[in-house]
Amino acid sequence: MDEAETLSADELHALQLERLQWTLWHAYDNVPHYRAKFEAAGVHPDDCRGLDDLAKFPMTTKDDLRQNYPFGMFAVPQRQVSRIHASSGTTGKPTVVGYTERDIGTWATVMARSIHAAGGRQGDKVHVAYGYGLFTGGLGAHYGAEKLGCTVIPVSGGMTARQVQLIVDFRPEIIMVTPTYLLTMLDEFERQGVDPRDTALRVGIFGAEPWTEELRAEIEGRTGMDAVDIYGLSEVMGPGVAQESVRTKDGLHIWEDHFYPEVIDPLEEHVLEPGERGELLFTSLTKEALPIIRYRTRDLTRLLPGTAYPAFRRMEKVTGRSDDLIILRGVNLFPTQIEEIVLRTDGLAPHFQLELTTKDRMDQLTVHVEAHANTPEQRRVSAATELVAEIKDRIGVSVEVGVQDPDTLERSLGKLRRVIDRRKTG
Ligand code: DLL
Repeated sequence: MDEAETLSADELHALQLERLQWTLWHAYDNVPHYRAKFEAAGVHPDDCRGLDDLAKFPMTTKDDLRQNYPFGMFAVPQRQVSRIHASSGTTGKPTVVGYTERDIGTWATVMARSIHAAGGRQGDKVHVAYGYGLFTGGLGAHYGAEKLGCTVIPVSGGMTARQVQLIVDFRPEIIMVTPTYLLTMLDEFERQGVDPRDTALRVGIFGAEPWTEELRAEIEGRTGMDAVDIYGLSEVMGPGVAQESVRTKDGLHIWEDHFYPEVIDPLEEHVLEPGERGELLFTSLTKEALPIIRYRTRDLTRLLPGTAYPAFRRMEKVTGRSDDLIILRGVNLFPTQIEEIVLRTDGLAPHFQLELTTKDRMDQLTVHVEAHANTPEQRRVSAATELVAEIKDRIGVSVEVGVQDPDTLERSLGKLRRVIDRRKTG
């Protein structure tokens, strides 16, 4: 669709190097924090002669952004900043990010590319149910859909009954929403007696939180849509950093002409070989307002060769962030592993929540999960037993399971909080 998608590997690497060198100079010249960090590490933008030289430069963390709250990491004067976004963060101050007019244009370009890769076309109606506001989801999707020539329906999150009504009445072909909020909507479809397969929806573009192949199967089965994954983060841009192709559904192509990925060992902090799993890092290649160098996303994945877009590498579906890792009596587990098992257990709904408590000075994990409305009492009991056994078998830990009535767990309106930690500390 745009010419970057047809670059050869050599052409891409040359473009990346040129843009990387520009980015390093831009950060060094205009952001005192970067200059100080480069100097402390004994590196200078001139030291970057090849893409591999990036590994010599210091990494950036959320803490760097927090220390420079709100605008200290911006590389252009404030009057050139045309947009501010922020990510809420669970503790402390939000992380603030800025965009020049050109950055907003770049973002729209990569988002338009993402929607196209997902199967969206000019003239399609796009229902945007990502939140609008400081969160990057709504406006990011909006500008991209407009740029692709779609008709945008900017619904934002919430008022679920109305979401369903608008999908029925306006007949959008595409929906952009978090996967857990889509599940909330599907319950509302049922309540209204509307079969989602009778709507015009053809493609769902789901991201902002981890979701599994099992959830893809569940969503596709219930809606008849193609469900594809979109990835991004505000510090790097917002949604549209990487996108899964509807043709291959095999992980997310990273739009590498704008975002340069590395994967490191999160503890040793060295760059890993292609295909090895670790923590994903991004360096922006074209951003003006907030150049970001080797940003530690805390997302765990691995890099694979391109398929649908051969010039661009893919990242495997993110199954967890290091922050979501639960260490239960020495065993590591991610909420997505529980999602996989819940969705494979007959009689259980895809709504579950994990609660951590302390029992006899030991950490205890309880999986609260809803039964389907038509699940008989007997099956609830056997489903609970199966879930305990499967989790023990596949993950290696003993958990408690509570199967509860439909519609009793908190519903997602955007990004869902999966884990409630009530452990006693100290
Ligand atoms: O969530 C941007 C976004 C909006 C992406 C809409 C996709 C769709 P933040 O609020 O800054 O930005 O949160 C970024 O969300 O580091 C991941 O941990 C997680 N995340 C985003 N997309 C995915 C995904 C937006 N497809 C953080 N799979 C990231 C798994 C995701 N995790």
